[in-house]
Amino acid sequence: GFGSFNSWLHDGLNKGYAVAQININNLEFVQAIIEAAEEEKAPVILGASEGALKYMGIDYAVAICRTAAERATVPVMLHLDHGPNLEWVLKAIRYGFSSVMIDASHLPLEDNIALTKKVVDLCHPLGIEVEAELGRITGTDDDLTVDERLATLCRPDDAMRFVEETHVDALAAAIGSAHGHYHGTPQLDFERLAAIREATQIPLVLHGGSGIPDEDVKKAISLGIAKMNINTDNQEVFTKKVRQILASNETLYDPRKYLGPGRDAIKEMVKSKLRLTGSVNRV
Ligand code: G3H
Ligand code: ZN
Repeated sequence: GFGSFNSWLHDGLNKGYAVAQININNLEFVQAIIEAAEEEKAPVILGASEGALKYMGIDYAVAICRTAAERATVPVMLHLDHGPNLEWVLKAIRYGFSSVMIDASHLPLEDNIALTKKVVDLCHPLGIEVEAELGRITGTDDDLTVDERLATLCRPDDAMRFVEETHVDALAAAIGSAHGHYHGTPQLDFERLAAIREATQIPLVLHGGSGIPDEDVKKAISLGIAKMNINTDNQEVFTKKVRQILASNETLYDPRKYLGPGRDAIKEMVKSKLRLTGSVNRV
């Protein structure tokens, strides 16, 4: 079965590493992630978003992930990424996810607290751990002014109240990272991160992990990031490899001939992320 993520996040906090959440998009992603985690002896969290679950079919997705977890000798967690509402949380519980994220970050603070607390009260008696989001983690294509950007960031005093009232297990606090392909260099607010860590004392999650300079990732981990989410970097290397093979071979028709190399490209990228987060040789 799937491992529980919280003990690993706390192990990371104690020892100075972060657990990687690698998002799944299809069968090849799951296989690549598990092979990388096996070879690097790293615990790993499979992240499944609503979009990915709709694309794969939640039943197919869970069956593939469960098979992967059963084969693996390293701990494998299955986490609902950016759960949009109670309906998706319930669906994830029903299908056997080991943890969920409820993302109510677009709601006013009071409503975010209320919905997150509802999810925690539902999940904790079932042994399911909960991540929530505070502040708004934007997309890299969102065109924000300096003031608008500042307004999206998580406030340490809000974070303290949020954690006290919801008893959430892990917090995705907006500190300036964004989802997707960065156009410039991301500007992480490390002072804010340290203050949120101080105020909450729980594992913090860095979303939009693709494209953040290695030194910044390491600094964020030293300041309390215990989980880092990655998707775009894997999508990019996979698609680049497939595109390259198809472009150089117009008569190729066997999908295995391009999906296989695409899968290998993901595996190498995942290994580099496991090394970057310091999660290798932890099991
Ligand atoms: O929740 C998923 C992650 O935050 C992925 O972000 O695609 O920018 O790596 P990314
Ligand atoms: Zn995210």
